[in-house]
Amino acid sequence: MCKDELQEVLSVEVIRERILALGRQITLDYSGRSLVLVGVLKGAFIFMADLCRAIDLPIQVDFVRMASYGFEQESSGRISFTKDIELDITGKDVLVVEDIMDTGHTIKYLKEVLTLHHPASVRICCLIDKHERRQVDIQADYVGFDVKKGFLVGYGLDFAENYRCLSGVFHLNPGYRPKAFQPSDR
Ligand code: IMP
Ligand code: MG
Repeated sequence: MCKDELQEVLSVEVIRERILALGRQITLDYSGRSLVLVGVLKGAFIFMADLCRAIDLPIQVDFVRMASYGFEQESSGRISFTKDIELDITGKDVLVVEDIMDTGHTIKYLKEVLTLHHPASVRICCLIDKHERRQVDIQADYVGFDVKKGFLVGYGLDFAENYRCLSGVFHLNPGYRPKAFQPSDR
């Protein structure tokens, strides 16, 4: 790994502390209830594993996987499920666990589809919110960190399927991405 390839944005310790705080808040907010956590694959797999153990409630876990075909890797195009939920969420409190909210298209679509199952509630928890890049009207209910810009990798986040297993979150220098992956504001 070249030394200017990655710059640390979130350390292991900072992530750990923030997830414990999120877990405490979620435990309080849903006190006396149970939760279905729906993780968005693949990016949220490590966040999901840590968050579910930071929440002191009865929890069921499920996953979805979505594919988007948009402009320059932006998920503003068509979105489809490549893996749907398997649990029956009717009448249940659902918390979507996502790695990054960027334009917001993915989570807006997922929330609309989950709502069709008539859950008791659907809320969103994202590790990283790039809210300044939002293109549609959707907010996360729980946010780990606000990050203004930059393409991030590690802690589940990938670039072309690489870097997911780094323990922290890093900014990937644009020089290490092919041109097609270098939108001007990232
Ligand atoms: P959007 O909110 O629909 O634009 O898409 C969010 C998805 O884009 C996330 O779930 C990630 O998979 C991906 N994404 C957005 N920004 C980044 C990043 O900085 N690194 C890695 N993936 C990203
Ligand atoms: Mg994702």
